[in-house]
Amino acid sequence: MCGIIGYAGGKQAAPLLLDGLKMLEYRGYDSSGIAVFDGGEIKMSKAKGRLENLDEITDGGKKLHGVIGIGHTRWATHGEPSDINSHPHVSETGRFAVVHNGIIENYIEIREFLTAKGFTFKSQTDTEVVVQLLEYYHKDDIFETIRKTLNKLKGSYALGILAAFEPNRFFAVRKDSPLVIGLGKNENFIASDIPAVLKYTRTFILPEDKDIIVADGKSVCVYNTNHELVERERLNVDWDVESAQKNGYPHFMLKEIHEQPKAVEQTVASCVKGDKIEFENVKYSAGFVKKLKKLYIIACGSSYHAGMIGKYFIERNCRIPVEIDLASEFRYRRPILDKDTLTVVISQSGETADSIAAMREAKTHGSRVLAIVNVVGSTIAREADDVIITRAGPEMAVATTKGYLTQVLTLQLLGLYLSDKLGLNGESYRTYLEEIKRLPTAVQEVIDNKEQLQILASTYFGNDTAFFIGRGNDYALALEGALKLKEISYIHAESYAAGELKHGTISLIKEGSLVFACLTSDELYDKAQSNAEEVKTRGADVIALVKKGHTAIEKQAKHIIELPALSDEIMPCVAAVCLQLLAYYIAAARGCDIDKPRNLAKSVTVE
Ligand code: M6R
Repeated sequence: MCGIIGYAGGKQAAPLLLDGLKMLEYRGYDSSGIAVFDGGEIKMSKAKGRLENLDEITDGGKKLHGVIGIGHTRWATHGEPSDINSHPHVSETGRFAVVHNGIIENYIEIREFLTAKGFTFKSQTDTEVVVQLLEYYHKDDIFETIRKTLNKLKGSYALGILAAFEPNRFFAVRKDSPLVIGLGKNENFIASDIPAVLKYTRTFILPEDKDIIVADGKSVCVYNTNHELVERERLNVDWDVESAQKNGYPHFMLKEIHEQPKAVEQTVASCVKGDKIEFENVKYSAGFVKKLKKLYIIACGSSYHAGMIGKYFIERNCRIPVEIDLASEFRYRRPILDKDTLTVVISQSGETADSIAAMREAKTHGSRVLAIVNVVGSTIAREADDVIITRAGPEMAVATTKGYLTQVLTLQLLGLYLSDKLGLNGESYRTYLEEIKRLPTAVQEVIDNKEQLQILASTYFGNDTAFFIGRGNDYALALEGALKLKEISYIHAESYAAGELKHGTISLIKEGSLVFACLTSDELYDKAQSNAEEVKTRGADVIALVKKGHTAIEKQAKHIIELPALSDEIMPCVAAVCLQLLAYYIAAARGCDIDKPRNLAKSVTVE
């Protein structure tokens, strides 16, 4: 989704804004623009398409002079990607320039209101009403102008604002859209995301909804809705700059796949203390856990797939029913939950609009909310009652890999934590914990065996469709494997619970169909093998993922990928890595733009 950056300091703003926007590219975008104060005037450049276009027309930012500015990458929602629709937008007199992330829901109404007052609009965007409202309301007090404008807006926004009559500072506000303030040395920033300015600072302020932020090179002031100067939560991040850069890898996705042993190690180190699990910000009493009637897991996309593995793990080991729902469904379902339900919201970014809304909905039912989030200081991390931070580090590729894996692992650790509270910490508890401690090595082993996956990718990359099948955890894995493949390679990939094939889908199987059969569970191996036989009989090429040595599938499978053997319950942690690599190499063989797949955004901050 759109990315925002703002700068005030002693350096030339435009090159720095461009640099920051490059760091926001991963969010997904289709046009970009920057505006700076140049000799007391607002000067602007915008370009459709890649940031290189903006870079080129501004000569790397050199054509715009000035030390204060705002920048934007736009992911089109209202109006096609074009120079006119891209941000910044300027008001009729040129007094205001605005960049915006989010959606102004009542923009049609405001547009009609302003048109009736004689305003004309150049773009098809919802954002232009914001800048024209600023113009409409402006008398002399800028704060009053911004307040009146905000009062008129419905929807979500993070806004960076330049006012021509205030050339020594910029303004910003947010409501339900991410925005952080970065504090540098004699320079200050705003950004949609921490990585955008990680090069310059690791100290951040987290503004609250409708705060007005005023920044110049020397200071940042935050005012609440009563116009009182307030102190907001500060955050010092320990992410390193390298972790947000490709460091020689052709794509962030491949780099992030390779970072998984470390991510797993950091996740384990953060909460496994000997044979106990202790989370920094979760302190449930045995009494609280024993009283729980249900867990409700809510998430979107890959986080939802991780949640499925969590559901199976927690139900099996804690014997507490776990319901799981897509956040976009949950929020409108009139869900049944109360104070005896623990709601677990999973989100890598912590900014997914549907997950935020679902979390708020769960709270209105009196349910305690536990967030499993990767981005510290994100909206979900801040609003949840309890938080577990996954230790993946910054994830830049749109396709999640280390984010997803650390979610799966965290859910397993949560399951063990809850089972311990319930006194269910017997033999399997210890086995799982031992295997989890050995996971970094097992994950590394999968990565080291990538050659076989590269060969398979070079054989099958031309296929138009692929099927992923499995049972239990393997079904959850199949869902994730198919999503990974389709989002980056554009191959039509479908996932099915293997037992469901006969209920319709098998009619699609024909000579040469590509079927990835996940058979990493001993318990369900025979059943899944029969399903593999069914598709093989109809001509499919079966590629089977199995535990090392579990090769009875050789009669049905054209290729077998053997994975480090762990308990059925822990196998998803290694099998997922294999599916990620397969998707990556297939997409690479097809020449796809892996880190920036078409139409996708890293964090989906609109509904
Ligand atoms: O940041 P979140 O975990 O809330 O994001 C949810 C989904 O948008 C995300 O997992 C998406 O499905 C991934 N890009 C898939 O790789």
